[in-house]
Amino acid sequence: MAKTERQELIRASLDKQPHEVASMFDGVAKRYDLTNTLISGGQDVYWRYETRKALALRPGERVLDLAAGTGVSTVEMAKSGAWCVAADFSQGMLAAGRFRNVPMVAGDAMALPFADESFDAVTISYGLRNVADPDLALREMLRVTKPGGRLVVAEFSTPTFGPFRTVYMEYLMKALPWVAKKVSSNPDAYVYLAESIRAWPTQSQLALRIADAGWSAVKWRNLSGGAVALHRGYKLA
Ligand SMILES: C[S@@+](CC[C@H](N)C(=O)[O-])C[C@H]1O[C@@H](n2cnc3c(N)ncnc32)[C@H](O)[C@@H]1O
Repeated sequence: MAKTERQELIRASLDKQPHEVASMFDGVAKRYDLTNTLISGGQDVYWRYETRKALALRPGERVLDLAAGTGVSTVEMAKSGAWCVAADFSQGMLAAGRFRNVPMVAGDAMALPFADESFDAVTISYGLRNVADPDLALREMLRVTKPGGRLVVAEFSTPTFGPFRTVYMEYLMKALPWVAKKVSSNPDAYVYLAESIRAWPTQSQLALRIADAGWSAVKWRNLSGGAVALHRGYKLA
């Protein structure tokens, strides 16, 4: 098979066709968690801890971790004592996380396989950017959340300090695919990662979209100088 044909199969394009995105993640599943930790310089652990804190989970609450991949984010949430379920549409990612002790469900963020008002909290880490229609996914997340429940979106974002922003975007565009080539089972997926981060809305733009989907009191907090942002919102009681 010619290289260009092969790349079409394993690297999603920025219009994020669901079958392309799912098979791209199937392709990186095996070494996904390790690659993440390496390319983030270990900061992914701190980002996950802060995401759990932002959710302020209590034992016994029901939590949906959407686009959960191998469930590494779900395991972090479950440390709170809440009942956390991982959902993702990549069978490969779910299979790579089979050894984790969390319930896993195959499902599409744009048509969630859950009843209305099922969860106390819904969260999505580094997933919303990959969904073909993020606004539809935000509305689906609202539908399955109980009145008074909350949302936390963890996503790559725009560094706030100009010089850092420039270095960061250079790092993403040049070093990231190079590092990924050394460690990932599908380095082309990391070219997509860099491109999709650059095309993603800023913190304030994303806050408006979350509010437009029906969430209230939307606020965000920057981590690592804005390389990551945690957006929080509530479903009116
Ligand atoms: C970058 S990974 C994040 C995994 C995990 N949350 C983490 O923090 O490491 C993004 C995940 O989003 C999933 N995804 C993308 N679009 C989706 C959709 N429409 N429905 C469900 N999952 C989706 C992909 O399959 C992938 O596993």
